[in-house]
Amino acid sequence: MKIAVMGGTGLIGAQVVKILNASGHKAVPHSRSTGVDMLSGQGLAAALKGADVVVDAINSPTFDDASVAFFQATSDNLRAAAADAGVGHAVLLSIVGADLVPGLVYYRGKVRQEDILKSGSTPYSIVRATQFFEFIEPAMSFSADENTIRLSATRIQPIAAADVAQAVARISTGTPLRGTRDVAGPEVFSLDQLGRITLAAHHDQRTVVTDDSAGIFAAVSGDALIAKDGAVLAPTTYREWLAR
Ligand SMILES: NC(=O)c1ccc[n+]([C@@H]2O[C@H](COP(=O)([O-])OP(=O)(O)OC[C@H]3O[C@@H](n4cnc5c(N)ncnc54)[C@H](OP(=O)(O)O)[C@@H]3O)[C@@H](O)[C@H]2O)c1
Repeated sequence: MKIAVMGGTGLIGAQVVKILNASGHKAVPHSRSTGVDMLSGQGLAAALKGADVVVDAINSPTFDDASVAFFQATSDNLRAAAADAGVGHAVLLSIVGADLVPGLVYYRGKVRQEDILKSGSTPYSIVRATQFFEFIEPAMSFSADENTIRLSATRIQPIAAADVAQAVARISTGTPLRGTRDVAGPEVFSLDQLGRITLAAHHDQRTVVTDDSAGIFAAVSGDALIAKDGAVLAPTTYREWLAR
């Protein structure tokens, strides 16, 4: 299969390209650095020419209000270009529970992406992943100072980026789901607990203070970020990943 991977130079996209090519497909990475700008649409038609599948693994450069406009414009452009090129399957990487956290503007952008994909004529699959292991430390840094890290007790079920890439690659070569598949890590943690595990692994002497008003996930209520029934659970545990 010929597969165009948008955001194919990013954390997930680059691994998806590698997995697909190793299994005999022809996956081509596209991003601004390869001359394709999904925001303006420049290079998009050429990127999708002859593609059986397109994977959307691009990311917004910001997490603020501008991210909604970014996901709106890039998804509109992709929907039109995929239809024009006769692409048979469009796969989007989204976030578990994105629709359940309206207080996070970036998540509203992800829901916008999903809605645009669903409204198009191209058969689609939405892969909703939980938070990447690689994202835990950046998330901790938002509410850190020299001595403490303030984190909410929000329940999350993080996953290794490599496991997300495997799931995206597998779904992109299958029959379009015309629906959504959740993929998640094997364990559920509270974010403050995850922070303590992370600090211990790095012999970092700072203290985690539980504060349900702190950090980027303070807006999350209940189990919004936990994978739903029928999810694919990935094998890699957080402690295994930290120990690599
Ligand atoms: N972080 C998490 O915990 C998490 C959890 C679930 C789902 N996700 C989703 O996973 C997706 C991929 O995340 P990631 O961490 O792999 O992203 P990333 O490493 O930031 O990579 C983003 C990719 O998008 C490309 N890009 C950005 N703007 C572009 C534009 N205007 N036109 C074309 N390409 C553009 C970038 O390349 P250039 O800069 O060269 O254009 C890069 O290849 C995101 O949509 C995110 O919402 C993330």
